[in-house]
Amino acid sequence: MATAATLERNASPIAPIDVSDPALYAEDRWQEPFRRLRGQAPIQYVPDSPFGPYWSVSTYKPIIHIESLPKIFSSSWEYGGISIAGDVETPMEGELRLPMFIAMDPPNHTAQRRTVAPSFGPSEVAAMKARVQARTTEVLDALPIGEAFDWVERVSIELTTGMLADLFDFPWEQRHKLTYWSDIGGNVELMKSPDNFAVRNAAMMEMGAAFDELWQQKVANPGKDLISIMLQSDAMREMSEQEFMGNLILLIVGGNDTTRNSMSSFVYGLDQFPDQRAKLEADPSLIPNAVQELIRWQTPLAHMRRTVEEDTEIEGVQMKKGDKVVLWYISANRDESVFEDADKVIVDRSNARRHLSFGYGIHRCVGARVAELQLCTLLEEMGKRRLRANVSGKVQRVPACFVHGYTSVPVTLSHY
Ligand code: HEM
Repeated sequence: MATAATLERNASPIAPIDVSDPALYAEDRWQEPFRRLRGQAPIQYVPDSPFGPYWSVSTYKPIIHIESLPKIFSSSWEYGGISIAGDVETPMEGELRLPMFIAMDPPNHTAQRRTVAPSFGPSEVAAMKARVQARTTEVLDALPIGEAFDWVERVSIELTTGMLADLFDFPWEQRHKLTYWSDIGGNVELMKSPDNFAVRNAAMMEMGAAFDELWQQKVANPGKDLISIMLQSDAMREMSEQEFMGNLILLIVGGNDTTRNSMSSFVYGLDQFPDQRAKLEADPSLIPNAVQELIRWQTPLAHMRRTVEEDTEIEGVQMKKGDKVVLWYISANRDESVFEDADKVIVDRSNARRHLSFGYGIHRCVGARVAELQLCTLLEEMGKRRLRANVSGKVQRVPACFVHGYTSVPVTLSHY
């Protein structure tokens, strides 16, 4: 670890490790390189990667520090936004860029978040419970017992898109498009090469047109869905159409692959630690804590990114204006100085809630309560049916360093 007062960019005690390599995630080999980084170079400059140079921040404390200083560490899309892929020096020609508050700094971020956040307050989310329960019941009761199927396809995707379509009154028959748009939107690999921009832009245009139509319908015929509620709020009415659309897409897409991959990780994580699964099955009061623990263990978004707005120093390391800083939540959530036996799922872990999977500070996930409601409901309804999902084949993973999840989890169900 650095002991000098300051370290120049390339003065890392170990050779740079490019943890953006998609193979690390596809093959589930990311744990070891991050362990080395946490031990020997918790803030390391990587001068060369397919995403350009970046700082890798891999321990808990400096991530909290950086997220507490949004004036120095910007989220703005103008500097490249919130993932390792965005690069202000090579902007994507013709890229569809809608303003979204996740990629804004104060004061714009503050104003827009304030208009959206009330729809996700404790009582608002509690009021969604019955609908979420009904949807979960419908999906679980249609599953075969003792016969292999893909949990990702039949449960994670079906439940997440179904619930989002329900909450936002998105056309039911088109709900699977939400999965496609979310996958394209969050695929940092597609942003490595301009050859892929056309695919990405076409999907984003299609999504924009679909949401525009929905928006027009809700203006003409408001209902009880979240879009109508937001449209009727005073603050929302003052937003431009472009801003409203950007935020709508953020809400529907932001809550999609994250919740989906959490649902897949529940099955995989509990299957990896059968003693913990048994503990949870024996005591359903552990469900809310187990949900946090599994979200910690999975970390559905492996990182968020910031850009340095003014030269600064953090833990003795000098960062320069314009530097890209990647905050590896996936590694901070395995930081042994915060989480004992961090690689293990421990359903009654006392500090599970301290995980960084929802981020930290002014951008902390606005939809966290909705996600928690969906995830707790899934475990509760499985518990009521005494349903256990046993992994029955090879798990396939998303080959990328941003969305951290599964494309397939083969399972068979049994009763316990
Ligand atoms: C387990 C599920 C989820 C995870 C792991 C997750 C993760 C995150 C993370 C890490 C951030 C912080 C971004 C940053 O610091 O730059 C964030 C922000 C956000 N999330 Fe989530 N999210 C989840 C579910 C949801 C859901 C269900 C919704 C909406 C229905 C949602 C909407 C948002 C929005 C709007 C923001 C932007 C907040 C801001 O910039 O102030 N998320 N989420």
